[in-house]
Amino acid sequence: MNILSIETSCDETGVSLVKCSRDNEMYQFDVLGNNLVSQADLHATFGGVFPSLAKREHAKTIIPLIEKTLRDAGIGDSKHKKVNLDSAKAFLEREPETAKALERLIPYETNDIDAIAVTIGPGLAPALWVGVNTARALSTLWDKLLIPTNHMHGHIFSSLFPSSEMFSFPALTLLVSGGHTEIIKIERDLSIEILGSTRDDAIGEAFDKAARQLDLGYPGGALVSKEAEKHRKAHPAHASKLFPRPMIKDDSFDVSYSGLKTALLYYLRDNPIQNPDELSLIAREFEDAALDVIVSKAEKALRARSFSSLTIGGGVIANTELRRQLTVLASSLSLPLYIPEMSLTTDNSLMIAVAAFVANQNEKTHAHTDLEQMEVQANMSSAQFY
Ligand code: KG4
Ligand code: ZN
Repeated sequence: MNILSIETSCDETGVSLVKCSRDNEMYQFDVLGNNLVSQADLHATFGGVFPSLAKREHAKTIIPLIEKTLRDAGIGDSKHKKVNLDSAKAFLEREPETAKALERLIPYETNDIDAIAVTIGPGLAPALWVGVNTARALSTLWDKLLIPTNHMHGHIFSSLFPSSEMFSFPALTLLVSGGHTEIIKIERDLSIEILGSTRDDAIGEAFDKAARQLDLGYPGGALVSKEAEKHRKAHPAHASKLFPRPMIKDDSFDVSYSGLKTALLYYLRDNPIQNPDELSLIAREFEDAALDVIVSKAEKALRARSFSSLTIGGGVIANTELRRQLTVLASSLSLPLYIPEMSLTTDNSLMIAVAAFVANQNEKTHAHTDLEQMEVQANMSSAQFY
């Protein structure tokens, strides 16, 4: 099944065409075309994602990116093309620039595309709508199945790429991103139980805020982590604990990150950073505290219940130290670990094709999505799971 997938939930416009196949429990994903345009530099001056700017950039970028993806996949011209242009354009009333550009896609031969998958949330509403409206328009233009896809499912199943057996169930999934910190149990029927989540800030958000406090810039997780690694390499035996580990001892699987942020704020107010060594020390102390909390909650969940695998998804799993600690944890419990390759940790559209195919194979997609009734899931809450 060839899936054209679209991701516009935040500040990345992603489009992929992926050949998805399955042999019993074995899933395989062959990339026919894959393009990603990041707006991060444009948002950097605001210290976060600015929604109306994100929408404008997605609207400008999306059709050229789809066209490039089709070309990269070697999709050529069709001689006898019948398309539903007017009804397709009707879905792009609020994106006139995108509606006009849609005409560029008329000549392409789309017989080999079986479905369009699009992120419907959670994410920023104005950004999501550009992808959703474009997907509705394409589904109408080419008369293709539309698979509305949850962004978090994308992160959850990203470790199946490029080929993997399906997780052993029940699986414990750790979802760690800029918007989510969740400890989730997934069953074979893909039903999800959220065992614990953050009471306040997400772990990636905490990293981003720490980066701002340390004047490292945006997006900050990778920058904090780079500083922390410098210190870790120079001082492998370092053992002090400058910052608190909120909720680490409590009975729930929930976590909290706002106390850590405040602790860092007060520390920096009283102890301004004087030199590069201090910067990397503080980054390392922050990272140690942030990771201790999530890793010990994951371990607690794994020990409290019976799980057959540990799976990880979300932007924060790009963190080298977290990957290392979870690898050690899974191996100490003799559990298979599913961890996405680095290029699929942050937002991308390949993971949306993967999640759409998994849903399709598990009969979670309907033959016909009601295009008129489609809504985006704008809030970043976790009520969006199956
Ligand atoms: O999954 P993602 O791209 O966006 C959401 O869906 O939220 O995750 C982005 C988050 C950001 O908060 C970013 O700071 C964090 O992942 N991140 C990291 C690292 N690389 C990205 N956090 C810690 N260490 C990293 N190396
Ligand atoms: Zn994400």
